[in-house]
Amino acid sequence: MSTHIEETLVLVKPDGVERNLTGEILRRIEAKGYTIVDVRMMRADRELLVAHYAEHEGKPFFEPLVEFMGSGPIVAVRLRGERVIEGFRSLAGATDPTTAAPGTIRGDLARDWGAAVQQNLVHGSDASESAARELTLWFPQS
Ligand code: RTP
Ligand code: MG
Repeated sequence: MSTHIEETLVLVKPDGVERNLTGEILRRIEAKGYTIVDVRMMRADRELLVAHYAEHEGKPFFEPLVEFMGSGPIVAVRLRGERVIEGFRSLAGATDPTTAAPGTIRGDLARDWGAAVQQNLVHGSDASESAARELTLWFPQS
């Protein structure tokens, strides 16, 4: 049987940090069995956020998204495990917190606040190429 150990970038977004949900989110990740390889709390500047969300540049939600992501501290996590990219996105749940399934981070802990941006607590890379690109952006040293 072949294994597929990989790494992904998880972000606890400013709403998650503000609501003191960092521990609960990391608890779910660890309970699932994934390995936290590195973690840092930081404020992201505009340059980093524009690079991170380059795929969304020009979309109507881009500017509010960058503004929201810069509004407070973020906890960035380098996560390792078997098929962790797909696995973390499954833990996180659907992008829209109103329809995210119960049992997921977004489904259990987030809701629609009626704001311009969806405050959905977490980010997770969506493919191996984006994971590599995003890990370099958020963990330039390692
Ligand atoms: P993420 O990148 O944060 O893990 O979330 P995702 O893959 O589930 O969603 P994506 O489509 O990549 O969108 C990135 C983030 O932009 C905000 N968003 N707002 N229509 C909207 O107002 C809208 N659509 C997306 C969300 O914060 C989403 O997580
Ligand atoms: Mg995405």
